[in-house]
Amino acid sequence: MGFFLTFEGLDGSGKSTQLRKLAEHLQSQGLAITVTRQPGGTHLGDRVRGLILDSKTEHLDPRTELGLMFSDRAQCIAEVIAPALHGGNVVLCDRFTDSTEAYQGGGRQLGSEIVLRMHETMCGGLQPDLTLLLLADFDKSLARARRRNNRTAAAGQDEGRFEREDADFYRRVYDKYREVAGREPNRVVIIDGDRSIETVHREISDLVESKLRTAGVLPALPGAGVR
Ligand code: TMP
Repeated sequence: MGFFLTFEGLDGSGKSTQLRKLAEHLQSQGLAITVTRQPGGTHLGDRVRGLILDSKTEHLDPRTELGLMFSDRAQCIAEVIAPALHGGNVVLCDRFTDSTEAYQGGGRQLGSEIVLRMHETMCGGLQPDLTLLLLADFDKSLARARRRNNRTAAAGQDEGRFEREDADFYRRVYDKYREVAGREPNRVVIIDGDRSIETVHREISDLVESKLRTAGVLPALPGAGVR
């Protein structure tokens, strides 16, 4: 029922731009699309987002941070994702549990196990049908994240708590993402983010359309499956 697609990557990987372009593309094909993000995506989630990303939030224990991420996610599943999937929509979600495994499990060094166990408990083990992991060159991603942080700060928005982490933190996040992709090759597809926005968009839309046809969400192409 429906189709659950998540976007993952380091800050500055271009995933939010790609998500927006894909949503427009799929909408133009007449599909019912639900777009959401984590943290955020619900009224409560936006408040959690404000708290977790604000660089004025200090001394947050990594396990508290982990719990807040899952509280946000459980609410988003209950309020947005589950009803949309139930209604047959294609759900595009900007970050999901792989982010928690990469950032809290890897970056904060809590390890994967606690994250996967909490996922079972808090999210009923809900898994995306497909995850697009945008990975650009590590140094370029880091530079982009820092630039983005300066821009949002200049716009009066403070979402810099993660972006001010050092390169070692981001290296652990990056490595954990690659570990997840290696562990779950059927679900997680790595997309090379070091190309033009349009090139990446074409690769993503071709891949997603093909998965949606296989899942029966889009009709099969004429002649497909006929030998
Ligand atoms: P973004 O939504 O603008 O990409 O940024 C959200 C930030 O929150 C980003 O630095 C990654 C971080 N994050 C976690 O650390 N754990 C999580 O589970 C999620 C969803 C996000």
